[in-house]
Amino acid sequence: MKITIVGSGKVGSSIARLLAIKQLADEIVLIDINEGLAKGTALDLLHASSIDHHACRIVGTKDYEFAEDSELYIITAGAPRNPGMSRKDLFDKNAKIAVEVSENIKRVSNSRSKIIVITNPVDAISYVVKKVTGFDRRRVIGLSGVLDSARMRFYIAQELDVAPENVTAIVIGGHGNHMVPLVKYSTVGGIPITQLLSREKIEEIVERTKRGGAEVLETMGFSAFSAPASSVVEMIESIIKNKRKILPCSVYLQGEYGVNDCFIGVPVVLGKNGLERIIEVELDEEEKKKFLESINEVRSLIEKINL
Ligand code: LAC
Repeated sequence: MKITIVGSGKVGSSIARLLAIKQLADEIVLIDINEGLAKGTALDLLHASSIDHHACRIVGTKDYEFAEDSELYIITAGAPRNPGMSRKDLFDKNAKIAVEVSENIKRVSNSRSKIIVITNPVDAISYVVKKVTGFDRRRVIGLSGVLDSARMRFYIAQELDVAPENVTAIVIGGHGNHMVPLVKYSTVGGIPITQLLSREKIEEIVERTKRGGAEVLETMGFSAFSAPASSVVEMIESIIKNKRKILPCSVYLQGEYGVNDCFIGVPVVLGKNGLERIIEVELDEEEKKKFLESINEVRSLIEKINL
């Protein structure tokens, strides 16, 4: 199992570490325009291999030829968000980077290769990646709801003092200020959270979830990387082990939820083909309104570039 990670910053290197430790790949290629960073990160991870109990081959390079025929390409490359910035402020810069990365991936990938996009603003960047590579929609998936839901699951668990893994939550919509946490589908051990928490508490959790990424960014001065990396690895595992987990991800809609030609976060089944199926859940009027707002936000970005 060969997995290529484009971008060897904190997110990319954290993903590589988790993949190696969980033995999900036997070959990891770390690509970065800063070749020293890619090579050094690879060597640092290899130094830990005897202790971390893996024999994964890890290569650091700026050369895409090493990334030929990967099962998965994980795109993390891009300008990072600084405190005070919203994810969409990164679009102009990161769209250019995404075009170049996508052209390279298109060149070295095969017909089974799939791409997971992390670079922000992820919904609009996933659109760019899909258009440039020409991959069908099963093969381009953006990280969004797994991370946002993980944050919501943690806050619910913390409030109720229960195991976070016991909590389910679904956050749909864009991975940005307009994400839509679906309270009625959030449960703890199968019990709807509306039976366990007051309306005010739930509202607080929803707001804190939406600001989860910004809170980390403002607190430490740079973007989160541990929770994003863990979220991506959950998606990778569901794909490469064909687990068919239902996970909220940013995918290309073709009529589902009444939306066409846009990437947005919805619950999907991830399996060996990548996006196996889109799950359409019922939304109330308020949720539909917020979902539409986040679609409009993504559209306002993708309209800015000609693909
Ligand atoms: C965050 C970044 C990955 O939410 O958007 O932390």
